[in-house]
Amino acid sequence: MQCLITGAAGFIGSHLCERLLAAGARVIGIDCFTDFYPRQIKERNLATVRTHSAFTLHEANLLEAPLPSLLRNVEVVFHLAAQAGVRTSWGREFATYTNCNILATQRLLEACRDRRLRRVVVASSSSVYGDCDELPLREESPLRPVSPYGITKLATEHLASLYASKFTVPVVSLRYFTVYGPRQRPDMAFSRFLQRLARDEPLEIYGDGTQTRDFTYIDDIIDATVRSAERGLAGAVYNIGGGSRVSLNEAIETLTAQLKKAPHLLHQAPQVGDMRHTFADITKAQAELQYTPRVPLAEGLRRQVEWFLLSSGG
Ligand code: NAD
Ligand code: UGA
Repeated sequence: MQCLITGAAGFIGSHLCERLLAAGARVIGIDCFTDFYPRQIKERNLATVRTHSAFTLHEANLLEAPLPSLLRNVEVVFHLAAQAGVRTSWGREFATYTNCNILATQRLLEACRDRRLRRVVVASSSSVYGDCDELPLREESPLRPVSPYGITKLATEHLASLYASKFTVPVVSLRYFTVYGPRQRPDMAFSRFLQRLARDEPLEIYGDGTQTRDFTYIDDIIDATVRSAERGLAGAVYNIGGGSRVSLNEAIETLTAQLKKAPHLLHQAPQVGDMRHTFADITKAQAELQYTPRVPLAEGLRRQVEWFLLSSGG
């Protein structure tokens, strides 16, 4: 199988490259190394796959990349490239979000028209829901994003379903819920906490820490992503969660217990744009993708801590 992975140098994209190469696929990666976080980190993400003979990296922005030639002979597209990060999507930065999340997706979907593709898997996000009274969140729950980022991810989903219905592009959208594990983006909570704990600095907690998240381990996310390319219904949307919901306070306790450190917590105001709670109903993914999350939070955090200590020389 030949696949195209956009955002290949990122956290999730680099893990997906590894999994597909290990399964015998040929992988073309596209990434433009945006400056949201340092290129050096993304180069490290790619270190293993760069040496694989079935992997090619095309360094380009999706807004300019020669997509028709890159898509030649491709059977499955995994579209992960985006400007991620919820809290930084206000103000002038929004232009980057519209470029990387809406315009880039529209250009890719145009290029996917009239091609014999098996699937186009698009990374969406739990942030499309916003604050919803009823938990767990079902695919049919109201979609009222509370961040500009969430609005761009919802636009991405709408574009995907339009191209599925009007041009039979076989798109499947996956609403990933807060992903963690080795190589987690440096702006995300556990990454930030590990960096600060290593320097004996206080952890900044937005709000009182009672907000909850359905944290999802990276291997489970990759498993669901690969399954969606094999079994996902064209035009469908799936929640991909980790199977449990914990408060940030509980997650911090689990993390710091692994490091045997008593953290100093610095409480700050809640961040505008953050959802208060996330919790995925994954019944649909279980039934249609046969997806079951396998890695509980304590084990996933143990692996992230182990990776962090190895990669930081700690
Ligand atoms: P990441 O920032 O690590 O990876 C995204 C990659 O896309 C980066 O390497 C970046 O350079 C590249 N990119 C961005 N715009 C591009 C463009 N226009 N052209 C080419 N390359 C471009 O992010 P991630 O955490 O791996 O997230 C991957 C996807 O999953 C994103 O679509 C994100 O919105 C979605 N998602 C992530 C999470 C999470 O918890 N990490 C949760 C829900 C959804
Ligand atoms: C994550 C990803 O960063 C988004 O790209 C993704 O779209 C989203 O999940 C999703 O599920 O769709 P978030 O849930 O904010 O967003 O993940 P973290 O950055 O790991 O934050 C988790 C919680 O910790 C949030 O409540 C946040 O406010 C809090 N936090 C984060 C802190 O209290 N302090 C920090 O230093 C960082």
